[in-house]
Amino acid sequence: MRIIILITLFITISSFFSLSFAQDKKAEAGKAIFESKCIVCHTMGKGKLIGPDLKGVTQRRKTDWIKKMIKDPDAMLKTDDTAKKLFQEHNNVPMINLGLKDAEIDSLIAYFKFEDKK
Ligand code: HEC
Repeated sequence: MRIIILITLFITISSFFSLSFAQDKKAEAGKAIFESKCIVCHTMGKGKLIGPDLKGVTQRRKTDWIKKMIKDPDAMLKTDDTAKKLFQEHNNVPMINLGLKDAEIDSLIAYFKFEDKK
């Protein structure tokens, strides 16, 4: 009986670790995308550039909003009041559509969340 409890415990603990490991991998992939495609206009904690500093973005916006803003900024700038306001605050420079895949956007979100937990 005791061995079964031990095995269950072991499986629970190891699946917990592999899960958080998978999250870390995703955040790492997101960081790489950020550094290759976003860093010309955004910083992570180093202040405003052409676009807003993205540190804290997961605290000030809902995940869905961030996803839409990355996936389809053109539509957001036409329909969403927050996006319109940001556009005005950034000298009418539009956030551009980089044609990212959903999986890439998910990785970016994992990276933003990872940064905001620090
Ligand atoms: C050509 C410059 C440019 C590039 C490249 C760019 N952005 Fe932006 N981004 C902006 C600007 C400017 C804004 C502010 C809204 C506007 O003016 O359209 C913005 C806004 C945002 C916002 C909303 C921020 C907030 O405070 O609510 C997010 C999230 C975002 N960008 C993510 C990204 C990601 C992720 C990438 C890379 C995949 C990226 N951006 C690439 C210019 C850019």
